[in-house]
Amino acid sequence: MPTPRSLLLLLLLATPFLLLPHAASASAPTSNPDIDLEYLIKNAGLDDAPAATATDDPEDGAPNFPDLDADYEDDEEDLFGDDDGPEESSHSHSSAADEAHVLLLTAANFTAILAARRHVMVEFYAPWCGHCRALAPHYAAAASALAADGVDVALAKVDATEEHELAQAHGVQGYPTLLFFIDGVPRDYAGERTKDAIVAWISKKLGPAVQNLAAVDDVAVLAFLDHLSGAHSDELAAASRLEDTVSFYQTTSPDVAKLFHIDPEAKRPSVVLLKKEEEKLTVFDGEFRASAIAEFVSANKIPLITTLTQETGPAIFDNPIKKQILLFAVAKESSKFLPIIKETAKSFKGKLLFVFVERDNEEVGEPVANYFGITGNETTVLAYTGNEDAKKFFLRMVSSIIVQESTMFLTKIFLLVNTQEFAQDFLEDKLTPSYKSDPVPESNDEDVKVVVGKSLDQIVLDESKDVLLEIYAPWCGHCQSLEPIYNKLGKYLRGIDSLVIAKMDGTNNEHPRAKPDGFPTILFYPAGKKSFEPITFEGDRTVVEMYKFLKKHAAIPFKLKRPDSSAARTDSAEGPGSSTGPEKSSGSNPKDEL
Ligand SMILES: *[C@@H]1O[C@H](CO)[C@@H](O)[C@H](O)[C@H]1NC(C)=O
Ligand SMILES: *[C@@H]1O[C@H](CO)[C@@H](O)[C@H](O)[C@H]1NC(C)=O
Repeated sequence: MPTPRSLLLLLLLATPFLLLPHAASASAPTSNPDIDLEYLIKNAGLDDAPAATATDDPEDGAPNFPDLDADYEDDEEDLFGDDDGPEESSHSHSSAADEAHVLLLTAANFTAILAARRHVMVEFYAPWCGHCRALAPHYAAAASALAADGVDVALAKVDATEEHELAQAHGVQGYPTLLFFIDGVPRDYAGERTKDAIVAWISKKLGPAVQNLAAVDDVAVLAFLDHLSGAHSDELAAASRLEDTVSFYQTTSPDVAKLFHIDPEAKRPSVVLLKKEEEKLTVFDGEFRASAIAEFVSANKIPLITTLTQETGPAIFDNPIKKQILLFAVAKESSKFLPIIKETAKSFKGKLLFVFVERDNEEVGEPVANYFGITGNETTVLAYTGNEDAKKFFLRMVSSIIVQESTMFLTKIFLLVNTQEFAQDFLEDKLTPSYKSDPVPESNDEDVKVVVGKSLDQIVLDESKDVLLEIYAPWCGHCQSLEPIYNKLGKYLRGIDSLVIAKMDGTNNEHPRAKPDGFPTILFYPAGKKSFEPITFEGDRTVVEMYKFLKKHAAIPFKLKRPDSSAARTDSAEGPGSSTGPEKSSGSNPKDEL
């Protein structure tokens, strides 16, 4: 369940522009705890802009073009100045000679052509549209150029004013709309509407383009095939569609294969994943199926260790692999630990993500350390189950080790063995989670008991007691208003041994059995039923309502003690209410002011 604390991390990772002005107030209140990471990332528009995307891909933005709706408006003016009927306009779309390689499609043959050709670009146009006319010569030239190069692609056009249904079925909202179909599956072309841009974009999508590989992509997949089309190529294309961020290339040339360290004698088909960083080449050894190839790419495309930044955050937290091992270390220490973690990472590729958090990095170090309850600069290794589950486990020994040059070798081996074991146990769910906790208070004899992460088991989960627990945040206004009322409740109920009124600062303490849903959250744990989910108090936050709630749900019936006259009055005043069940009384209950 998302909590305000996880939101903080999410904000940090997903919306730098929101976070930065507030970076100083790491524990600032957040008004909406219901936002989770996926939501934020999606809505911040960061999900489809990972670092691995080729930077020259025109899809990444076509700032030179007004949006389609604007075109539409523009062009409506053309409509009035244009007396031509659709027939004639269609001719003026461009001269027939130019369009030798542009197919005209209608509803009658659209499906057949798309089924027959693996790669088809379709322009939905309107005869009266000025931008369409401007595009026509470029489009025709692109079609001719691609045909001359023998690229397996068809460029086609559909008169959307004639083919309403077809246009509607493809979500056409302005003219021209360019869609690129791979095996019948469309994606938008939003690049520049020039011959060169269209040719380059399509070539990159379809061609081997190996000469650009290392320069363009951080990660790429290269397949060495017998044929550039056919079953294997189709599987590769299907895998490529499953994978958003990595470019796929195919070649039949042994020379190209050799260039990328594929043995030219190797059996085909073979697939390698190429990376810029260390460990440049990973060979696929699974069955040559789209899903297996895509899985292989997904597991291997990320670096052995990803350094956490605002840019890499989405790739880490959106990864299908949820379990993470995080290394927290200050920059100058990191060179000692990174190689060890990296070594471990090799054995857990595709199973665990390894993340490096630079402890003294201004943007991420402090807030992320806070999120995980890490104080100080000591190197820390931590396992984390991801934002949904949000369990964490510390590798104990790391923080206590001081790496001396003299004992470096032994230390490293020691660390490596421990990290490996830790990662393995994590993978097998054998670790005991750690939770953020304030120190256990030395004395705790107020009416309202103080609970911290470490003492929650002992106080709240004590089967012999009914326990009411308020989870609050120091900055929360409602919590501040509740405090005197809650203290009063504690005072009235003092002396009832079976009942504990308790509170916990939810910003510094956590426990899997006490998850706040905003602040304050008031939870009740009946005696003898501690293995069940607690009951949430949702009534008016008055002494009376909380009292009635306790009367109703307490596993051990209780009676107010009457140490003094004021408590006696309370009891008699509340007596009748206690039998009427939990329905809300009027908000301004005077007994609240007792
Ligand atoms: C599709 O049908 C239209 C109308 O019959 C025709 O003009 C056009 O040439 C056909 N296109 C192809 C590629 O066959
Ligand atoms: C952590 O390191 C930073 C910079 O290296 C330093 O400014 C800071 O005081 C250190 N904090 C602790 C708790 O040691």
